[in-house]
Amino acid sequence: MKKILIGVTGGIAAYKAASVVSALRQAGHDVQVAMTPAACQFVTPLTFAALSQKEVRTELFPAHPTSDKGQLYPHLYPATEADLFVVLPATADIIGKFACGFSDDIVSASALSLPAGCKKIFCPAMNTQMWDNPVVQENVQTLEKRGWQRIGPESGLMACGTTGAGRMSDPSAILDAIHKALA
Ligand SMILES: Cc1cc2nc3c(=O)[nH]c(=O)nc-3n(C[C@H](O)[C@H](O)[C@H](O)COP(=O)(O)O)c2cc1C
Repeated sequence: MKKILIGVTGGIAAYKAASVVSALRQAGHDVQVAMTPAACQFVTPLTFAALSQKEVRTELFPAHPTSDKGQLYPHLYPATEADLFVVLPATADIIGKFACGFSDDIVSASALSLPAGCKKIFCPAMNTQMWDNPVVQENVQTLEKRGWQRIGPESGLMACGTTGAGRMSDPSAILDAIHKALA
């Protein structure tokens, strides 16, 4: 049983993260989901709470924090105890924030708090022109140089109706990579 922190960010592929969370939970892992405010526009935290059987982290400053350490210090818990951090989908925005060390949402703050041995996977998903943008490509390379493992994106028909690179990899491919990273 591993402690897996899943970061969900605001892309149309956010719904695909649900099947990954479900499969990891069914495999017996301790799965905690954190979502950016933008991700909550696409899928409700309730979906991930039900699948992970845990409260979903969405805020750095909960309105009424309990004595639970994840509520008092959401930027540190569960991130500082994670064995694996997976971000899916990874927006252009969150990739840039990771590359620059920003921490003004729960997912980017968690990324800064991971222990040294924590494996880090990101699964980019975005429009082809966004993906091809030099600043996005530079940020992706920065993460890879820092030890992040990238899964995808794939080429194909995009939600916005165009065809090209930028589709998030299938959940099955992401799960394969997760299982290899945990082996
Ligand atoms: C309908 C819609 C779909 C979007 N899909 C994507 C996407 O697939 N990838 C992406 O990088 N941004 C996408 N965006 C833009 C992001 O939601 C926006 O950049 C947001 O600030 C990302 O915030 P986050 O990285 O904190 O989740 C989309 C926006 C809308 C309105």
